[in-house]
Amino acid sequence: MLVGPSGCGKSTLLRVIAGLESATRGAVKIAGRVVNDASPQERNVAMVFQDYALYPHLTARGNLEFPLKMRHMAKDEIARRVDAVARSLAIDRWLDRLPKQLSGGERQRVAMGRALVREPSLSLLDEPLSNLDARLRVQVRAEIKELQRRIRTTMVYVTHDQVEAMTLGDRVAVLDGGRLQQVDTPAALYRAPCNTFVAGFIGNPPMNLIETRLVAPESGEGVAIALGPVALSIDTRHFAGEAIVAARAAGGTVLTAGVRPEHVHLGDEGGVLATVLHAENLGHETLVHVGIRGGPRLLARAPGMVDLAPGATTRVVFEPAEIHLFDARGAALARSR
Ligand SMILES: Nc1ncnc2c1ncn2[C@@H]1O[C@H](COP(=O)(O)OP(=O)(O)OP(=O)(O)O)[C@@H](O)[C@H]1O
Ligand SMILES: [Mg+2]
Repeated sequence: MLVGPSGCGKSTLLRVIAGLESATRGAVKIAGRVVNDASPQERNVAMVFQDYALYPHLTARGNLEFPLKMRHMAKDEIARRVDAVARSLAIDRWLDRLPKQLSGGERQRVAMGRALVREPSLSLLDEPLSNLDARLRVQVRAEIKELQRRIRTTMVYVTHDQVEAMTLGDRVAVLDGGRLQQVDTPAALYRAPCNTFVAGFIGNPPMNLIETRLVAPESGEGVAIALGPVALSIDTRHFAGEAIVAARAAGGTVLTAGVRPEHVHLGDEGGVLATVLHAENLGHETLVHVGIRGGPRLLARAPGMVDLAPGATTRVVFEPAEIHLFDARGAALARSR
């Protein structure tokens, strides 16, 4: 999975892997073999482009058959594969239509089918679901996952939808401004983002990122961060020893604290005093925007429907183990494992 904001270089990277563009530096390896000098044909990768170029004069079936006919595959094998892929992408009803007679989402699925029908060892998919409506996207996402498991092909899949990245990816690479930020399993990216960019990009709604600085704790030893007028104690056990010592030694250090909305709890006791700004009821959960008195604003996520009027007073409690700290340059302070 390759994720990142528009213009960060995802499509460019896919084109470099496919051999449609050459790399100015570094080695491109497919199955352990350096392929920098191999032509796109020699690399034998299937690519679904962001703008899914179909052959306009061929029907959907013709488009699906095309790569197999090029390989002189037996007729019944072609029919078997085309039918199987068409069924799993739910395009079997319009196999006899021309691309111009299909909707954008249908065309996109034909383009994906054309890549998958080859059962290639490597498929490169550039935003293959971007033209589907929300419901179809969930359905096709499940189909891709099952198809992928069945034909055991390697996919490099570009998306800016981080739900797709989290649900389909074995490993997710986050790009920004042409640079790789972090590559890891979806769970690890979520649990331990390496910098403020990844922290803010993975997760929806995103992690609260709060500009703060280290201060003396209100009581006892340890480390605290300023949250408006209060000092919030940080449980240093959650950070690797050197990281927190270095931050503390720098005294008054400017930091960014991060906490996910699901790890911010609202209640009547403990925590920090805050005012409800507004609440968004989504049915299964409520997103509550709160302002810490004399401090930053935050988003909290509460299960179910919560009735909180703007202006109401509440108390905000952070799950201590779920507070992330980032240095002034945005790099995460190492967490203990
Ligand atoms: N042929 C080209 N020549 C010069 N610059 C290009 C070319 N193609 C793309 N770029 C630039 O390279 C950067 C990365 O483009 P790329 O298409 O890889 O982005 P992307 O991550 O796929 O974005 P999106 O999500 O919008 O598709 C952009 O700033 C783009 O303007
Ligand atoms: Mg692109």
